[in-house]
Amino acid sequence: MPSNELRTYRAPGRVNIIGEHIDYLGGTVLPFACDLELEVTTLPTDGPVEFGPAGAQPFAEGVAAALLEAGHEVLRRRGEVSSTIPTGAGLSSSAALSAALALALTDGERPEPALLQRAEFLATGVPSGVMDQTAVVKGRAGQALLLDCATGAISYVPVPDEIAFVVIDTGTRRDLADGRYAQRRAEVEAGEERRMRHASTEQRRVYEAADALRACDVAALGALLYGTHVSLRDDFEVSSEALDHAVETAMSTDGCHGARLVGAGFAGCVLAVAEAGAESRLLDRFETAWRVRAVDGAGPA
Ligand code: GLA
Repeated sequence: MPSNELRTYRAPGRVNIIGEHIDYLGGTVLPFACDLELEVTTLPTDGPVEFGPAGAQPFAEGVAAALLEAGHEVLRRRGEVSSTIPTGAGLSSSAALSAALALALTDGERPEPALLQRAEFLATGVPSGVMDQTAVVKGRAGQALLLDCATGAISYVPVPDEIAFVVIDTGTRRDLADGRYAQRRAEVEAGEERRMRHASTEQRRVYEAADALRACDVAALGALLYGTHVSLRDDFEVSSEALDHAVETAMSTDGCHGARLVGAGFAGCVLAVAEAGAESRLLDRFETAWRVRAVDGAGPA
């Protein structure tokens, strides 16, 4: 029975520990759902499906269309979104938005990651992989997901309290719809050598990073993160001056063992890994930075 009452749904952003630009190749990646979050408050309406602020509406339409395509009923709902996830910054604000809207338009049915991926494609035209949507829906508190993007199989890996993840926002923004993401994807799928070199070295780093996380080896994990940054910078060519600068500044901070750009790249955030206790030194050095923790996936608020 659809509810007539005000309902609120939440969806987390995602931090990808490692495994960048390999989800759409069927690779295995290691993200977690993080405690930068978004909320949708929703009510029934007799009018059209309508969500504010303005940027949310294309996603509401994309989600509604993807739900209908998959044979779901779409409830007439309107509502408002509020968020602490910076947009266009590598933390999957659009996957979080799609997930929360799907919950709002179905009165809380947990959406399939592939449906959200389709919704995002309809809303933005970006041919993303399925990593972000899976992390946002299937995340678990205190755990990262070792996710096989070819099969959707997940094994959860605990994130030890001794390891602190810090997200640093450079304040620069990309627009995923600007075509560079799709271009990189096309280049690696066409077998361009440097792009492929990133993909194959990155896959190896993911497995090593999962082992380092299980062993609580922050130094090994940090070295792998920095390896990913170098590979994304030099082989995949998705870094920027601001991202490189933030990575080097983070790495020169006592107790920080590694850093890299996070998400698609070109702009946005850097992820740094530090011994727990040392994160305050990182937080002090940057104007906008957060210690992030792994939380549960999207659901009722
Ligand atoms: C974006 C996409 C993901 C993934 C990353 C890069 O976040 O939405 O599917 O490809 O970029 O790893």
